[in-house]
Amino acid sequence: MRLDLNVPLEDGRVADDTRLRASVPTVEELLRRGATLVLMSHLGRPKGAPDDAYRLGPVAARLSELLGREVRYLATPGPGSPEQQAFVAEAPPGSVTLLENTRFDARETKNDPELARVLAGYADAYVNDAFGSAHRAHASTEGVARLLPSAAGRLMLREVEALSRLVDGPERPFVVVLGGAKVSDKLGVIESLLDSADALLVGGAMAYTFVAAQGGEVGDSLVEEDMYDTARDVLERAASADVPLRLPPDSVCAREPDPGAERSVHPSDAIPAGLKGLDIGPAAREAFAGALQGARTVFWNGPMGVFEVEGFDAGTLAVARAVASLAGAYTVVGGGDSVAAVNRAGLADAVSHVSTGGGASLEFIENGDLPGLAVLRDDA
Ligand code: 3PG
Repeated sequence: MRLDLNVPLEDGRVADDTRLRASVPTVEELLRRGATLVLMSHLGRPKGAPDDAYRLGPVAARLSELLGREVRYLATPGPGSPEQQAFVAEAPPGSVTLLENTRFDARETKNDPELARVLAGYADAYVNDAFGSAHRAHASTEGVARLLPSAAGRLMLREVEALSRLVDGPERPFVVVLGGAKVSDKLGVIESLLDSADALLVGGAMAYTFVAAQGGEVGDSLVEEDMYDTARDVLERAASADVPLRLPPDSVCAREPDPGAERSVHPSDAIPAGLKGLDIGPAAREAFAGALQGARTVFWNGPMGVFEVEGFDAGTLAVARAVASLAGAYTVVGGGDSVAAVNRAGLADAVSHVSTGGGASLEFIENGDLPGLAVLRDDA
């Protein structure tokens, strides 16, 4: 069974267990139905070799607490190692075993058929409930599904159903809020949303690439200079599609994103040299909240600033509150930081769907399908 147990760790413990909680129902259902489970997941981006910082031990411990039963785990060199094979072979019927990080082997991300064969050899059937990883065609998400009778888990099905409402004729007005550091990560989804969205609100560091591409002064803000032409092209296409692409009129700025840093507010296109835009400003918070009023469908992915640092989280929390306050609207939040913001503001229950996928939800909206999903359908 493939899960997305890629969660943040702090001091050897799971810092946010949203994805683990979301994985529990399918695990419990399969156990009730008599399965012996071999779970696998990646964690972070180790370089294709064992790396102690990315071991799944803390995940096994937290998952075991959530399930209220033992999760067998052995720190092994990686997928297919003799130690791992022996550990799986000893699994008692009805037990739950969590394999070491699949990315400790470089063959995982190459979707190597030999590694897929080793993983498939551990089981009689394959269930993929790792929606957050379904945009990756890797050995544990795609290759193995070609070799075993396969099925989607409950979380996967729920995610696809929830996100399909954004793709198949969303109720209008449909407002999209995008943030995060890089325009390059969001280009595909922006382009596809120009066909369906009524407004795009862009915050986070990616906004400064758009501002700078139009000649604005962004000080020392993070920008992707090689994306200026593309950013101008996107702005033109948004204008000709009549979809307002709104950038934050002002920004909270500082020299560095430190909790004690001296902060000041400047127009986003007149940030003094030496300062970085690190959050959307008060006028932007108001403008974005105003643009969300009356929306019937909302998709939000990506923080409005350096949300994890105190003093630069107001914009992200304001968007969380604005999205959560839309009575009767269909609202979807995806991506680690935006989900963390909604959780921190205690508003997760006020949102229609909190997705466990960041990149996966973006790619699903862009393409209407994902490699880890398509392969399950082929199997049927
Ligand atoms: C995620 O956190 O979005 C997924 O777990 C995928 O991780 P990746 O971007 O490292 O493939």
